[in-house]
Amino acid sequence: MYIFKKVEDLQEFIAAKKEKGLKIGFVPTMGALHKGHISLIDASKKDNDITVCSIFVNPTQFDNTDDLQKYARNLPKDAEMLGLAETEVLFAPNVQEIYPPDLKTEVNLKFGGLTTVMEGRFRIGHFEGMVQVVNRLLEIVRPDAIYMGQKDIQQAAIVSNMLMQQKSATKIVICPILREDHGLAMSSRNERLEPADREKAKAIHEALLKAKENISTLDLDTIKKQAQDHLLSVGFKPEYFEIVDGDSLQSISQYSDSKYIVACVAAFMKDVRLIDNMILRNEKA
Ligand code: PAJ
Repeated sequence: MYIFKKVEDLQEFIAAKKEKGLKIGFVPTMGALHKGHISLIDASKKDNDITVCSIFVNPTQFDNTDDLQKYARNLPKDAEMLGLAETEVLFAPNVQEIYPPDLKTEVNLKFGGLTTVMEGRFRIGHFEGMVQVVNRLLEIVRPDAIYMGQKDIQQAAIVSNMLMQQKSATKIVICPILREDHGLAMSSRNERLEPADREKAKAIHEALLKAKENISTLDLDTIKKQAQDHLLSVGFKPEYFEIVDGDSLQSISQYSDSKYIVACVAAFMKDVRLIDNMILRNEKA
Protein backbone atom coordinates (compact mmCIF):
# COMPACT_ATOMS: atom_id res chain seq x y z
CA MET A 1 0.00 0.00 0.00
CA TYR A 2 1.23 3.48 -0.84
CA ILE A 3 0.90 6.04 1.93
CA PHE A 4 0.81 9.71 0.92
CA LYS A 5 0.76 12.68 3.25
CA LYS A 6 1.16 15.40 0.63
CA VAL A 7 -1.52 16.43 -1.86
CA GLU A 8 1.06 16.88 -4.60
CA ASP A 9 2.50 13.37 -4.22
CA LEU A 10 -0.95 11.78 -4.26
CA GLN A 11 -1.99 13.77 -7.32
CA GLU A 12 1.14 12.77 -9.21
CA PHE A 13 0.46 9.11 -8.43
CA ILE A 14 -3.19 9.33 -9.47
CA ALA A 15 -2.42 11.23 -12.68
CA ALA A 16 -0.05 8.44 -13.77
CA LYS A 17 -2.73 5.80 -13.08
CA LYS A 18 -5.40 7.76 -14.93
CA GLU A 19 -3.10 8.12 -17.92
CA LYS A 20 -3.11 4.34 -18.13
CA GLY A 21 -6.91 4.40 -18.15
CA LEU A 22 -7.26 2.95 -14.64
CA LYS A 23 -10.40 3.59 -12.61
CA ILE A 24 -10.13 5.29 -9.23
CA GLY A 25 -12.48 4.63 -6.30
CA PHE A 26 -12.40 6.87 -3.24
CA VAL A 27 -13.38 6.18 0.38
CA PRO A 28 -13.14 9.23 2.65
CA THR A 29 -12.91 8.48 6.40
CA MET A 30 -11.83 10.01 9.67
CA GLY A 31 -9.95 6.87 10.69
CA ALA A 32 -10.53 4.67 13.78
CA LEU A 33 -11.46 2.16 11.13
CA HIS A 34 -13.83 -0.74 11.65
CA LYS A 35 -15.47 -3.35 9.43
CA GLY A 36 -18.07 -0.81 8.25
CA HIS A 37 -15.30 1.28 6.70
CA ILE A 38 -13.69 -1.82 5.24
CA SER A 39 -16.98 -2.76 3.55
CA LEU A 40 -16.70 0.52 1.62
CA ILE A 41 -13.14 -0.37 0.63
CA ASP A 42 -14.35 -3.79 -0.56
CA ALA A 43 -17.14 -2.18 -2.61
CA SER A 44 -14.67 0.21 -4.21
CA LYS A 45 -12.17 -2.55 -4.95
CA LYS A 46 -14.87 -4.49 -6.81
CA ASP A 47 -15.59 -1.57 -9.16
CA ASN A 48 -12.18 0.08 -9.55
CA ASP A 49 -8.51 -0.58 -10.29
CA ILE A 50 -7.18 1.69 -7.55
CA THR A 51 -8.89 2.42 -4.25
CA VAL A 52 -7.81 5.53 -2.35
CA CYS A 53 -8.83 5.78 1.30
CA SER A 54 -8.35 9.10 3.08
CA ILE A 55 -7.96 9.44 6.82
CA PHE A 56 -8.44 12.99 8.00
CA VAL A 57 -10.16 14.06 11.21
CA ASN A 58 -11.74 17.18 9.79
CA PRO A 59 -11.82 19.94 12.42
CA THR A 60 -14.36 22.07 10.50
CA GLN A 61 -17.18 19.52 10.85
CA PHE A 62 -17.08 19.17 14.64
CA ASP A 63 -19.65 21.29 16.43
CA ASN A 64 -18.23 20.15 19.75
CA THR A 65 -14.52 20.59 20.60
CA ASP A 66 -14.65 17.81 23.18
CA ASP A 67 -15.86 15.39 20.48
CA LEU A 68 -13.00 16.51 18.21
CA GLN A 69 -10.40 16.03 20.95
CA LYS A 70 -11.77 12.64 21.98
CA TYR A 71 -12.04 11.37 18.41
CA ALA A 72 -9.98 8.14 18.27
CA ARG A 73 -6.76 8.43 16.29
CA ASN A 74 -4.59 5.41 15.51
CA LEU A 75 -2.92 5.67 12.13
CA PRO A 76 -0.66 2.58 12.43
CA LYS A 77 -3.63 0.33 13.28
CA ASP A 78 -5.75 1.89 10.53
CA ALA A 79 -2.92 1.43 8.01
CA GLU A 80 -2.66 -2.23 9.02
CA MET A 81 -6.40 -2.79 8.46
CA LEU A 82 -6.27 -1.05 5.09
CA GLY A 83 -3.24 -3.12 4.12
CA LEU A 84 -5.07 -6.35 5.01
CA ALA A 85 -8.01 -5.19 2.86
CA GLU A 86 -5.52 -4.69 0.01
CA THR A 87 -6.23 -0.99 -0.33
CA GLU A 88 -3.87 0.48 -2.91
CA VAL A 89 -3.51 3.99 -1.43
CA LEU A 90 -3.85 5.62 1.97
CA PHE A 91 -3.97 9.41 1.97
CA ALA A 92 -3.31 10.80 5.44
CA PRO A 93 -2.79 14.56 5.15
CA ASN A 94 -2.41 17.07 7.97
CA VAL A 95 -4.63 20.13 8.44
CA GLN A 96 -2.27 22.45 6.49
CA GLU A 97 -2.41 20.18 3.43
CA ILE A 98 -6.19 20.22 3.36
CA TYR A 99 -6.65 23.83 4.42
CA PRO A 100 -3.64 25.86 3.24
CA PRO A 101 -4.14 29.42 4.50
CA ASP A 102 -4.14 30.89 0.98
CA LEU A 103 -6.76 28.53 -0.45
CA LYS A 104 -10.48 29.23 -0.31
CA THR A 105 -12.13 25.91 0.53
CA GLU A 106 -15.64 26.91 1.65
CA VAL A 107 -18.37 25.66 -0.67
CA ASN A 108 -21.17 28.03 -1.62
CA LEU A 109 -23.96 25.66 -2.48
CA LYS A 110 -27.45 25.47 -1.02
CA PHE A 111 -28.98 22.15 -0.03
CA GLY A 112 -32.48 23.29 0.92
CA GLY A 113 -34.19 21.09 3.48
CA LEU A 114 -31.48 18.41 3.33
CA THR A 115 -29.21 20.35 5.70
CA THR A 116 -31.78 21.89 8.05
CA VAL A 117 -33.35 18.74 9.55
CA MET A 118 -32.06 16.08 11.97
CA GLU A 119 -28.23 16.26 12.13
CA GLY A 120 -28.34 19.73 10.61
CA ARG A 121 -30.68 20.91 13.34
CA PHE A 122 -28.68 19.48 16.22
CA ARG A 123 -25.10 19.86 14.94
CA ILE A 124 -24.82 23.47 13.82
CA GLY A 125 -22.15 23.94 11.14
CA HIS A 126 -21.49 20.20 10.85
CA PHE A 127 -22.64 19.80 7.26
CA GLU A 128 -20.91 22.99 6.05
CA GLY A 129 -17.65 21.50 7.36
CA MET A 130 -18.40 18.07 5.93
CA VAL A 131 -19.22 19.51 2.48
CA GLN A 132 -16.07 21.64 2.62
CA VAL A 133 -13.78 18.68 3.28
CA VAL A 134 -15.48 16.24 0.90
CA ASN A 135 -15.38 18.84 -1.88
CA ARG A 136 -11.70 19.54 -1.20
CA LEU A 137 -10.86 15.81 -1.12
CA LEU A 138 -12.79 15.24 -4.35
CA GLU A 139 -10.87 18.06 -6.02
CA ILE A 140 -7.63 16.41 -4.95
CA VAL A 141 -8.50 12.80 -5.85
CA ARG A 142 -10.97 13.32 -8.74
CA PRO A 143 -12.21 9.73 -8.50
CA ASP A 144 -14.56 7.90 -10.82
CA ALA A 145 -16.69 7.01 -7.80
CA ILE A 146 -16.95 7.91 -4.12
CA TYR A 147 -18.16 5.27 -1.63
CA MET A 148 -20.18 6.38 1.37
CA GLY A 149 -22.25 4.66 4.04
CA GLN A 150 -26.02 4.58 4.51
CA LYS A 151 -25.11 4.83 8.22
CA ASP A 152 -24.81 8.59 7.64
CA ILE A 153 -27.80 8.80 5.34
CA GLN A 154 -28.09 12.60 5.51
CA GLN A 155 -24.38 13.06 4.75
CA ALA A 156 -24.68 10.72 1.75
CA ALA A 157 -27.79 12.58 0.50
CA ILE A 158 -26.00 15.94 0.74
CA VAL A 159 -22.86 14.71 -1.05
CA SER A 160 -25.07 13.16 -3.72
CA ASN A 161 -26.87 16.49 -4.12
CA MET A 162 -23.55 18.36 -4.26
CA LEU A 163 -22.27 16.12 -7.07
CA MET A 164 -25.50 16.71 -8.97
CA GLN A 165 -25.30 20.51 -8.55
CA GLN A 166 -21.66 20.48 -9.66
CA LYS A 167 -22.49 18.21 -12.62
CA SER A 168 -19.57 16.17 -11.36
CA ALA A 169 -18.12 13.25 -13.29
CA THR A 170 -17.81 11.36 -9.98
CA LYS A 171 -20.66 9.00 -9.14
CA ILE A 172 -21.66 8.14 -5.59
CA VAL A 173 -22.20 4.59 -4.34
CA ILE A 174 -24.06 4.27 -1.03
CA CYS A 175 -23.25 1.09 0.90
CA PRO A 176 -25.38 -0.69 3.55
CA ILE A 177 -24.91 -0.32 7.31
CA LEU A 178 -22.66 -2.91 8.96
CA ARG A 179 -23.76 -3.88 12.47
CA GLU A 180 -22.22 -5.61 15.45
CA ASP A 181 -23.67 -9.06 16.26
CA HIS A 182 -26.26 -7.67 18.65
CA GLY A 183 -27.38 -5.02 16.16
CA LEU A 184 -25.55 -1.84 17.15
CA ALA A 185 -24.39 -0.04 13.99
CA MET A 186 -20.59 -0.09 13.82
CA SER A 187 -19.11 3.28 14.65
CA SER A 188 -15.79 4.71 15.81
CA ARG A 189 -17.71 6.20 18.72
CA ASN A 190 -18.79 2.77 20.02
CA GLU A 191 -15.29 2.37 21.48
CA ARG A 192 -16.10 5.14 23.92
CA LEU A 193 -19.06 3.25 25.40
CA GLU A 194 -18.52 1.35 28.65
CA PRO A 195 -19.07 -2.41 28.09
CA ALA A 196 -22.47 -2.40 29.88
CA ASP A 197 -23.61 0.62 27.85
CA ARG A 198 -22.47 -1.00 24.61
CA GLU A 199 -24.78 -3.90 25.40
CA LYS A 200 -27.65 -1.52 26.19
CA ALA A 201 -27.00 0.35 22.96
CA LYS A 202 -28.56 -2.50 20.96
CA ALA A 203 -31.84 -0.78 21.95
CA ILE A 204 -31.36 1.59 19.00
CA HIS A 205 -31.53 -1.30 16.57
CA GLU A 206 -34.43 -2.83 18.47
CA ALA A 207 -36.35 0.45 18.28
CA LEU A 208 -35.73 0.65 14.53
CA LEU A 209 -36.80 -2.97 13.98
CA LYS A 210 -40.00 -2.38 15.97
CA ALA A 211 -40.74 0.69 13.84
CA LYS A 212 -40.26 -1.40 10.71
CA GLU A 213 -42.59 -4.09 12.04
CA ASN A 214 -45.36 -1.56 12.74
CA ILE A 215 -44.90 0.92 9.91
CA SER A 216 -47.94 -0.07 7.89
CA THR A 217 -50.30 -0.71 10.81
CA LEU A 218 -49.71 1.92 13.53
CA ASP A 219 -49.84 5.69 13.15
CA LEU A 220 -46.42 7.31 12.94
CA ASP A 221 -46.73 9.31 16.17
CA THR A 222 -47.34 6.10 18.09
CA ILE A 223 -44.35 4.42 16.43
CA LYS A 224 -42.09 7.37 17.28
CA LYS A 225 -43.33 7.47 20.87
CA GLN A 226 -42.71 3.72 21.31
CA ALA A 227 -39.19 4.10 19.93
CA GLN A 228 -38.34 7.04 22.19
CA ASP A 229 -39.75 5.18 25.21
CA HIS A 230 -37.65 2.12 24.43
CA LEU A 231 -34.50 4.24 24.17
CA LEU A 232 -35.29 6.05 27.41
CA SER A 233 -35.92 2.75 29.21
CA VAL A 234 -32.28 1.64 28.78
CA GLY A 235 -30.78 5.02 29.65
CA PHE A 236 -30.49 6.75 26.27
CA LYS A 237 -31.28 10.44 25.92
CA PRO A 238 -32.84 10.54 22.46
CA GLU A 239 -32.27 13.72 20.44
CA TYR A 240 -34.65 12.75 17.68
CA PHE A 241 -36.41 9.73 16.22
CA GLU A 242 -37.79 10.86 12.87
CA ILE A 243 -39.71 9.05 10.18
CA VAL A 244 -38.84 10.69 6.87
CA ASP A 245 -39.05 10.40 3.13
CA GLY A 246 -35.71 8.81 2.23
CA ASP A 247 -35.05 11.20 -0.67
CA SER A 248 -36.08 14.59 0.73
CA LEU A 249 -35.34 13.59 4.36
CA GLN A 250 -38.40 15.58 5.42
CA SER A 251 -40.71 14.17 8.10
CA ILE A 252 -43.83 12.48 6.86
CA SER A 253 -47.06 12.34 8.81
CA GLN A 254 -48.52 9.10 7.50
CA TYR A 255 -47.48 5.88 5.82
CA SER A 256 -49.12 6.79 2.51
CA ASP A 257 -47.00 9.98 2.26
CA SER A 258 -43.98 8.16 0.82
CA LYS A 259 -43.01 4.93 -0.91
CA TYR A 260 -39.46 5.23 0.44
CA ILE A 261 -39.62 5.64 4.22
CA VAL A 262 -36.61 5.77 6.54
CA ALA A 263 -36.47 6.04 10.33
CA CYS A 264 -33.52 8.09 11.59
CA VAL A 265 -32.36 8.33 15.17
CA ALA A 266 -29.76 10.18 17.24
CA ALA A 267 -29.35 9.49 20.95
CA PHE A 268 -26.84 10.04 23.72
CA MET A 269 -25.59 7.27 25.98
CA LYS A 270 -23.92 9.40 28.66
CA ASP A 271 -21.63 11.69 26.59
CA VAL A 272 -21.47 9.45 23.52
CA ARG A 273 -23.74 10.48 20.67
CA LEU A 274 -24.84 7.68 18.35
CA ILE A 275 -26.82 7.81 15.12
CA ASP A 276 -28.51 5.09 13.13
CA ASN A 277 -31.29 4.58 10.60
CA MET A 278 -33.31 1.90 8.86
CA ILE A 279 -35.31 1.75 5.66
CA LEU A 280 -38.89 0.98 6.73
CA ARG A 281 -40.50 0.90 3.31
CA ASN A 282 -38.89 0.78 -0.11
CA GLU A 283 -41.34 0.53 -2.93
CA LYS A 284 -39.77 3.11 -5.20
CA ALA A 285 -40.57 2.46 -8.82
P1 PAJ B 1 -16.39 8.41 9.15
O1 PAJ B 1 -17.33 8.58 10.29
O2 PAJ B 1 -15.03 7.88 9.41
O3 PAJ B 1 -17.10 7.47 8.10
C1 PAJ B 1 -16.51 7.22 6.86
C2 PAJ B 1 -17.52 6.47 6.00
O4 PAJ B 1 -17.82 5.21 6.60
C3 PAJ B 1 -18.85 7.23 5.88
O5 PAJ B 1 -19.29 7.21 4.53
C4 PAJ B 1 -19.77 6.44 6.79
O6 PAJ B 1 -21.14 6.52 6.43
C5 PAJ B 1 -19.22 5.03 6.63
N1 PAJ B 1 -19.61 4.18 7.75
C6 PAJ B 1 -19.50 4.48 9.07
N2 PAJ B 1 -20.02 3.48 9.83
C7 PAJ B 1 -20.47 2.54 8.97
C8 PAJ B 1 -21.13 1.26 9.13
N3 PAJ B 1 -21.42 0.79 10.32
N4 PAJ B 1 -21.43 0.57 8.01
C9 PAJ B 1 -21.13 1.07 6.77
N5 PAJ B 1 -20.52 2.25 6.56
C10 PAJ B 1 -20.20 2.98 7.63
O7 PAJ B 1 -18.33 10.14 7.69
C11 PAJ B 1 -17.20 10.58 7.90
O8 PAJ B 1 -16.19 9.81 8.41
C12 PAJ B 1 -16.81 12.01 7.57
O9 PAJ B 1 -17.91 12.84 7.72
C13 PAJ B 1 -16.19 12.18 6.15
C14 PAJ B 1 -17.19 11.80 5.05
C15 PAJ B 1 -14.90 11.35 6.02
C16 PAJ B 1 -15.81 13.67 5.94
O10 PAJ B 1 -14.93 14.10 6.91
